[in-house]
Amino acid sequence: MSLILAIETSCDDTCAAVVTGDGVIRSNVISSQGVHDEYGGVVPEIASRHHLELATPVVEDALRRADTSLDDVDAIAVTAGPGLVGALLIGVATAKGLAASRGLPLVPVDHLQGHVAANFLFTEDDGGEPLEPPFVCLIASGGHTFLARVDDHAGFTVLGQTLDDAAGEAIDKGARLLGLPFPGGPHLEKLARDGDVTRFAFPISKNVGGLDFSFAGLKTALLYKVRDLGEEEATEARADLAAAYQAAIVEQLAVRVERALEQTGLDRLAIGGGVAANGPLRERLSALAPTVKIPPRALCTDNAAMIASAARYADAVAFPGYLDLEVHATGQRAL
Ligand code: KG4
Ligand code: ZN
Repeated sequence: MSLILAIETSCDDTCAAVVTGDGVIRSNVISSQGVHDEYGGVVPEIASRHHLELATPVVEDALRRADTSLDDVDAIAVTAGPGLVGALLIGVATAKGLAASRGLPLVPVDHLQGHVAANFLFTEDDGGEPLEPPFVCLIASGGHTFLARVDDHAGFTVLGQTLDDAAGEAIDKGARLLGLPFPGGPHLEKLARDGDVTRFAFPISKNVGGLDFSFAGLKTALLYKVRDLGEEEATEARADLAAAYQAAIVEQLAVRVERALEQTGLDRLAIGGGVAANGPLRERLSALAPTVKIPPRALCTDNAAMIASAARYADAVAFPGYLDLEVHATGQRAL
């Protein structure tokens, strides 16, 4: 049984994992930096510096937890993009160094393919079995939101995507307006639990029949609502605002998923990306198809096990070919 060591550093989490060639997770270490909160978003330069400090200890921890060593590893996988350029470079340099020193093949992995491939792993708390293609997959994270048709393990076809903000970005910005720390998702979800979801109604972009998303108008609607209410009333209404705002995001995602299932005729659904950790979204989507794969939360947010999973179906590059490997970055997210 082969072993893959994977590294993921595309944003602010320094991650390493050991996964078997069959898709069994032996370890999955995620070190969240938690240093960006006071800035209300990820500061790329700070993220890179922390990756530099954390990469080696996180890799060592992943090997230790998997009860293995580099001697038993058969391939190194690494996120090559999209993501923050400086952050990606640290992961790729670490992976190249490890692979070259051991003469191991290196597998460059696309971060979004990684989110999709989280559904190909054996897991403990969601019924356990990997989902076999074909299926519809919703990926909603801080940097991306799209619907894909997955016909095989190695790729996907985009059916629709956000025309402006990603769902996680809208959640983080909305949470910030409500005075919550970054990243806002878990805080917004918690606050919304105490809220009355019927007191306010936020617009759900209709895009009749279409599979694209739009969240910019929703964010503006919350901004105006908070202004109209005034500071005192908006503070009193925080939980109700959070509940309605979250509900509007969940509903828009769910409506598009329903359409995608209808239009493709597929009866299997999978989800991924940090927003897929959201309880109300998980509950709403779980009823939409006969088979719904909802990975454990730790496999929805950024992690390296999903990168190892994708690497099982991607092309490995032998030494020294990967020494020239470059990262493909995305535009920086506004704070
Ligand atoms: O996939 P991810 O970890 O990193 C990116 O690739 O962006 O996603 C991070 C996003 C953030 O916007 C965060 O607020 C959101 O996922 N998120 C959540 C929850 N947990 C994380 N959104 C809603 N509810 C949650 N429980
Ligand atoms: Zn991600």
